[in-house]
Amino acid sequence: MIVTAPSQDQSKNGPRPINMNTDIPGILKLLELVFGASLDAEGRKMFAGNASALESPAILWRLSPAAAKLSLGFVWEENGRIVGNVTVLNSEMPGRYLVVNVAVHPDYRRRGIARLLMQRVENLVRQRQGNQILLQVVKQNNAAIELYNALHYTTIGSMTHWTASVSRLRRLELNLDTVGPPIRELKRHEWKSAYVLDRQALHADLHWPEQLKQDAYKNGFWVKVMNFLNGRQAETWVATAGKNQLVGLGAITSEWGRSHVASIRVHPAWQGRLERPLLAKLIRRLQYLPRRNVQIDHPDDDELVNSLLQEANFQPRRTLTHMRLDLDE
Ligand SMILES: CC(C)(COP(=O)(O)OP(=O)(O)OC[C@H]1O[C@@H](n2cnc3c(N)ncnc32)[C@H](O)[C@@H]1OP(=O)(O)O)[C@@H](O)C(=O)NCCC(=O)NCCS
Repeated sequence: MIVTAPSQDQSKNGPRPINMNTDIPGILKLLELVFGASLDAEGRKMFAGNASALESPAILWRLSPAAAKLSLGFVWEENGRIVGNVTVLNSEMPGRYLVVNVAVHPDYRRRGIARLLMQRVENLVRQRQGNQILLQVVKQNNAAIELYNALHYTTIGSMTHWTASVSRLRRLELNLDTVGPPIRELKRHEWKSAYVLDRQALHADLHWPEQLKQDAYKNGFWVKVMNFLNGRQAETWVATAGKNQLVGLGAITSEWGRSHVASIRVHPAWQGRLERPLLAKLIRRLQYLPRRNVQIDHPDDDELVNSLLQEANFQPRRTLTHMRLDLDE
């Protein structure tokens, strides 16, 4: 429940840009109310123990990374309470903006508040010469998807987040039918081809929050030194065809104290033939790594990988649909 004291000044009712000096506690309370039960670990950390910080002077809030992430966007105020919020994030790619924290207090829904706040976002992005707005929404969230469809956002695709504990992973058997090209480690000079394969296998906007960096698969000497210093480790396994053309790729990134992150990409012409051997390879490799959780995000419509992940004892956690609004020049 929102506990801020209502003010008598009704002239401020309605939509307005976020005011960093006054709005952050109210926004956090609204987000906690609206998303509380469904917050992921990172979101919960943001709210945990913040009750006293909510009372801190604004100058302290302005220094907080959590507050900085809420600073651009719009709120809807009613009698001194924040009942609606939309946050805009810059992205590393010029012209590309992300929308997060779309929330309206349950007592104020279906009055056009979210629609108006989202239209304000669109105007803001246009003023900044932006050309794309992206967002993620839980696939089953019909209310929000209806809202975004009504505002002409189009669906790019959906990614399911799977997790497993490394100690409970089941190895995948390979039979003769599934034996394809041999799988070997990515060679140092092949990082660009690995990036190209990733782009062919997965829509660029299904990476979140940023698109894949061109050097994401670079693993030369200096990258290894930096990874070592940062407690990070990355390995990439590939399947090749013809003259060493990369057609399939499986990667694991491990960071100190965090879940291992795995991924699988298969060239469209090879789909159906490489997923089992690639995932089997990743599972064998994971069993040599520290016993932590492992996570993998994969397109939800890839039924083969869905069934392989289940066979390997991964659990689907949630599916997020990625939507995009392209703004005319
Ligand atoms: C989704 C949410 C932000 C919508 O806020 P809202 O202020 O009620 O939405 P609006 O009144 O502006 O609705 C605009 C349009 O969205 C669609 N819509 C909104 N709520 C809907 C619902 N419950 N069912 C179907 N369509 C809905 C309709 O097309 C609606 O237009 P209409 O009222 O003319 O039919 C609100 O329900 C909410 O906070 N939900 C919980 C948090 C959440 O899911 N956020 C989205 C995260 S991606």
